[in-house]
Amino acid sequence: MKIIMLGAPGAGKGTQAKMIADKYGIPHVSTGDIFRANIKNGTALGMEAKQYMDKGLLVPDELTVKILLDRVAQDDCKKGYVLDGFPRNIPQANVLEDALSKLGEEIDFAIDVEVPDENIVRRMSGRRACVSCGATYHLEYVPPKQEGICDTCGKELILRDDDKPETVKNRLQVYHEKTQPLIEFYGGKGVLKTVDGTRDMQEVFADIVDILGE
Ligand code: AP5
Ligand code: MG
Repeated sequence: MKIIMLGAPGAGKGTQAKMIADKYGIPHVSTGDIFRANIKNGTALGMEAKQYMDKGLLVPDELTVKILLDRVAQDDCKKGYVLDGFPRNIPQANVLEDALSKLGEEIDFAIDVEVPDENIVRRMSGRRACVSCGATYHLEYVPPKQEGICDTCGKELILRDDDKPETVKNRLQVYHEKTQPLIEFYGGKGVLKTVDGTRDMQEVFADIVDILGE
């Protein structure tokens, strides 16, 4: 099963993608997580990506596309995957479609997690992410057991550099301009499913399970 998560920054794509990956036993592939791991490890790719991410801009396709195609070519992706943060624009969607069609494959579901802009800034400013394992929390909605410490691995929780309100505004603008057209793109291919992302995360997940099947 090959799934794409669509939705604004902070809509809950990562939260839902992790739950899907656990339930269906497929890898969660997040280009944002791949970039953040590279930043943390100080790689050349990470340094370059950070310049764009900190401004809320998309990392250029030349850097992004190859990383994603290499990742989904790995063995663990043979039975499917859930893509979170890719594609981010129409050219990326076309590259993915071409790569899949060469293998005689296609995307099964594009799930759009709908959340209005008004809710987004609040979600982002409350988000805390683990510096080590990438687990995500929210000060109000999903607080860690101990303040500032990851429940899973015991390392420090931080506010992502790009979750500052000024940067979130830029990310939303980039989303509407570059990423939102993908809703129509996948709608035209008959694979688009929309869920109301404003509700409790378990309720959102229940809708997704209804779509994907038990
Ligand atoms: P990326 O990491 O993909 O960030 P994003 O799309 O901006 O999305 P987020 O991770 O911020 O939000 P999310 O939808 O995953 O929400 P989450 O589940 O965490 O990309 C970062 C940057 O990398 C980009 O800006 C770009 O520069 C670059 N990049 C990445 N991919 C790229 C590509 N393909 N091309 C070019 N550049 C690329 O939830 C948010 C918060 O809300 C959390 O605290 C969570 O606990 C909480 N929450 C979630 N669901 C609910 C709910 N139902 N109710 C209440 N709270 C909730
Ligand atoms: Mg995410």
